[in-house]
Parts: sequence; C-alpha cells; structure tokens
Amino acid sequence: FNVPVPQNEPVLSFAPNSPERKALKAALAEARSKQIEVPMYIGGKQVKSDTRLPLTPPHDHQHVLGYYYKSDASHVTQAIEAALAAKPQWENMAWEQRAAIFLKAADLLATKYRAKANAATMLAQSKSAYQAEIDSACELIDFLRFNVAYMTQIYAQQPISSAGIWNRVEYRPLEGFVFALTPFNFTAIAGNLPTSAAMMGNVVVWKPSEAQIYSAHFLMELFREAGLPDGVINLVYPEGSVAGKVIFEHPDFAGIHFTGSTGVFQQIWQTIGQNINRYKSYPRIVGETGGKDFVLAHHSADAKALATALVRGAFEYQGQKCSAASRAYVPDNLWPEVKEYMLADLATIKMGGVEDFSNFVNAVINEKSFDKIVSYIENARQNPQVEVVAGGKYDKSKGYFVEPTVLLSKDPRSTTMCEEIFGPVLTIHVYPQNEFEQALTLVDTTSPYALTGSIFSQDRYAVEQATTALRHSSGNFYINDKPTGAVVGQQPFGGSRASGTNDKAGSVLNLLRWVSPRAIKETF
Ligand code: NAD
Ligand code: ALA
Repeated sequence: FNVPVPQNEPVLSFAPNSPERKALKAALAEARSKQIEVPMYIGGKQVKSDTRLPLTPPHDHQHVLGYYYKSDASHVTQAIEAALAAKPQWENMAWEQRAAIFLKAADLLATKYRAKANAATMLAQSKSAYQAEIDSACELIDFLRFNVAYMTQIYAQQPISSAGIWNRVEYRPLEGFVFALTPFNFTAIAGNLPTSAAMMGNVVVWKPSEAQIYSAHFLMELFREAGLPDGVINLVYPEGSVAGKVIFEHPDFAGIHFTGSTGVFQQIWQTIGQNINRYKSYPRIVGETGGKDFVLAHHSADAKALATALVRGAFEYQGQKCSAASRAYVPDNLWPEVKEYMLADLATIKMGGVEDFSNFVNAVINEKSFDKIVSYIENARQNPQVEVVAGGKYDKSKGYFVEPTVLLSKDPRSTTMCEEIFGPVLTIHVYPQNEFEQALTLVDTTSPYALTGSIFSQDRYAVEQATTALRHSSGNFYINDKPTGAVVGQQPFGGSRASGTNDKAGSVLNLLRWVSPRAIKETF
C-alpha cells in the first residue's frame, strides 16, 4: 500500500515577531471581532433550530463569540437518517479515495487553517497558544496522517492461502452508524473520534461537548473543504440525554466512540445493555474516560526534574487534561528541595486570558467546573490532614480562574488524593523514604482509575520494581517524565480500569474496532 509515511507535525514556537505569532494574533483578533452563526450539519446541509444559544470564552464569559443552534430529538433522528442514506456510497468508495480526504484535511490544517484552528481552541476552550498548537494543530494532524497509515496496515493483514484455495479477509465497516460523543478538553480528540470511524468506511453522528461547539464547527468546515461527502459525518448539538435516547434505541446503532467522564460512560454502557435486543449486531463500545494520574518518586529521584514535571504535568491547561498529574507520592528526603523548586517555579507562572501569550494558566472550562473545583479546595481546607501549600484562590467575575493549587495530604486516602477533580489541583503525599513498597501499593490501590502515571528514579532496580508492581495502574507509563503529552505514533494513548476500554487512540487497535471482518475462502 502506497501512502505517505507519517511524520509528527513539528510544533511551532510562536516566538516574538515570528510569522506564526503574527498569523495567530490576527486570527484571534478576527475571531473576537465578529459573532459567527454555528448551524448543525445534517446530510451536508446547514440546519438551524428555533433555539439559538451563545458561545462564550471561559476567560471572558461576557464576550459572545457566536451563537449555535440547539438540536432536539428530531434533529438527531434526521442525522441518523442522513448517515444511513450516505452509507452505501461511502462504504463502497475505494480506500484510497477516503484516505485522500483525510490527508487533505491534515494538509489544510497544517497550512491554510492552522492559525484559525488554534485561535478557535484558544478562545472556546481557554487554551494557551502552545497548548492549542499541540492539540488542534499537531495532534489532530498526526491523528489524521497516522490513522491513514494504520488503515493500510489493517487492510494488508491477510491470511495464508494454499494450492487451489485463495483465502482473504474483507475489512467491512460496521453495519449501521457510529455515534461519536466527544469531550471539551481536546479539539484533536473531538476531530479524531468521528474521523477514525469514518476513515474505515463508517457513517457517523457526532455530538461534541457544548463547551467545544465553536471549534467543532470549524473542524466540520475543514473536513468538508477537504472533500468529505454529504452525510458521512453529521454534526448535532442536543443535550446528551436527548441524543442518548434517540441513538441508543435505534436498531441501526452499531457503535459508540466516546471520550469523557467515567460516570457518563458507565450510564451509556448500561443503556446500551438495556436496549441490546433492539440492535442488529452487538454494538462496539469504545470509551476513554476519567483519570487520577499519579507521579511516584523514589528517594533516588532528581528533585529539580521532579518539581518541573509536577508543575507542568499538573497545571498545563489548568489541569484539565485526562492525563494531568493530580496525585504525587514524594519521599521525605526529597520533599524540602522539591517544595522549594515548585514554589519558585509557581512564582513565575502568570494566570489570565489567552490573548496574552505569557499567561501559562488560563480559565477553567465553565461555571459548573469552577464550582466543583472550588468545592474540592474548600473541603480540603476543612480537613485537618490537608495543608494548602500554594495557590487556593479563585475568581469568576470575568472568567473562571482558579490558581494552581498544591495540597499536602498526610492521609494518602483523602478525597483529593483519590477523586478526579479535573482542575488545577495537585495533592502530594510525603512518605518515609524507606517505605517505597508501601508507596507502590498506595498508588495501585487508592484510586479506581488507571490512565497515566510516572515513576521518577535514578535507581534502575526501583524503576523495574515500579514497572512491574504498577503494571495495571495505568495505560501510559512514563519513566522520569511527566504523565501528560502523549504523541500520536509514539505513545499510543488510553487507560484501563475506570479510565476506559484502552483501545489506544491513534493506533491499529483503535481502527480495528470500526471494522467487522469477513473471511472469504475461494476454491479453484
Ligand atoms: P463529559 O463526560 O461531561 O462529556 C463528554 C460528552 O458526553 C459530551 O459531549 C457531553 O455533552 C456528553 N454527555 C454528558 N452527559 C451525557 C449523557 N447523560 N448522555 C449522553 N451524553 C452525555 O466529559 P467532559 O467534561 O467533556 O470531559 C472531561 C472528562 O473526559 C474527564 O473525566 C476526562 O478525564 C475525560 N477524558 C478522558 C480522556 C481519555 O483519553 N481517557 C481524554 C479526554 C478527556
Ligand atoms: N495527548 C494527550 C496527553 O497525553 C491526551 O496529554
């Protein structure tokens, strides 16, 4: 199979006076200066409803970027019908034609629309320029290019034949439609979930998070400019429960590609189970869900490297990465030095809107999330076992701002050590340096999640011990590095336990979930 060999898209630096910085500033200014209309896309048509709702930046919630049209159950039904109508032609299209559309989308994003995509993600989801660049530009471009290469690896997997017999496998798309249900925190994930299923010949109904509609609309326009035919991906904006009712009761429901919280995924799985007799086939259920990602330090760790990883891993994108460092176990011999480095680093961090590129921390996604994070901080203040080491202040008057907050918990089982907060809150437990084995047990047993985790150690025996003892504690494991920032093609991403089905976004394993192979034997 002749497809371009994928390379990771280089990350632009946005240095002062660089062309990319000028382009991004111009795209931000343009997006802020006008209010756009955000319709649904059903069967290739732009559809509007009677309910028009504002889209506002989390760091400036009185500013209106545009208005979207809320979907009701009838729009979801229309989206399913449009998908099913597009299915025969799409699934019979040669794979090269499908591949070309997604490769062209990657090229358009890398060149013509890079600044626009980054500006949309910065404004809608309150990401810094760098965080937007590694998400809506590099990661999404990588997903599109690497998935095309993985698709051909799947098609190339064929059985052996023998004298007078030719065996082959046909990688059919699923029978029915796929539902892509996407989260707010990564534009790349929102773009990847519908396109990875569509690439394998499936038709899709896509419902983004309300907080990501602005950038989802932009992606849909990009896919259409790249040549995506009408009805292959249909974009609607209903309430989750409204979408769920229509989708999960439909006989042609063939699979869900979900990323979001554990609670929502568990509810969805139950609903699918309750409706199992309605479907033609057992639906594919792929879900990447919550995390309580750990950093464990051994007494041999480099204190400065550890402190840097904790600050970056916990507070980039306001701790709203599924992979964010949110619980750390630091030995008592290192803690004084680590604390000093962390406080010095935190003192340099600025918080504010995304337009000022020197702000490392921006706003959290919305008021509901702000209130939840604040309640964790306030409850921690009431706990005599917990001390606020840094941060702890918040303000929602202009935007939803929460200071990077470091908590020190004597109790390794306190609430903030164990539950997903999804905000800029890191809880640290200091353990006696000769109790590394007990620390391994705490990491493994005190949280239901298993998404990402790190070990910091300069002792190879300790690295080996942690790698073995924590085999099931995360789906992505980092040695002497922060637990965020997995790169497509390098560290396939996904977790197990309460963190998901671990079908590794951007991998052959993931794409295999969107096909239903047929084995064909021909005798001559
Ligand atoms: P969420 O679960 O609130 O929402 C995800 C999607 O489901 C959204 O489109 C939402 O509108 C929809 N939804 C919500 N309730 C629904 C319902 N009852 N029925 C049907 N749909 C419903 O998640 P979020 O706040 O957008 O994202 C943050 C969560 O996602 C965190 O828990 C984070 O850890 C997780 N996440 C995981 C990964 C991963 O790879 N494991 C990656 C990114 C985010
Ligand atoms: N690629 C993202 C990370 O690892 C999900 O942080």
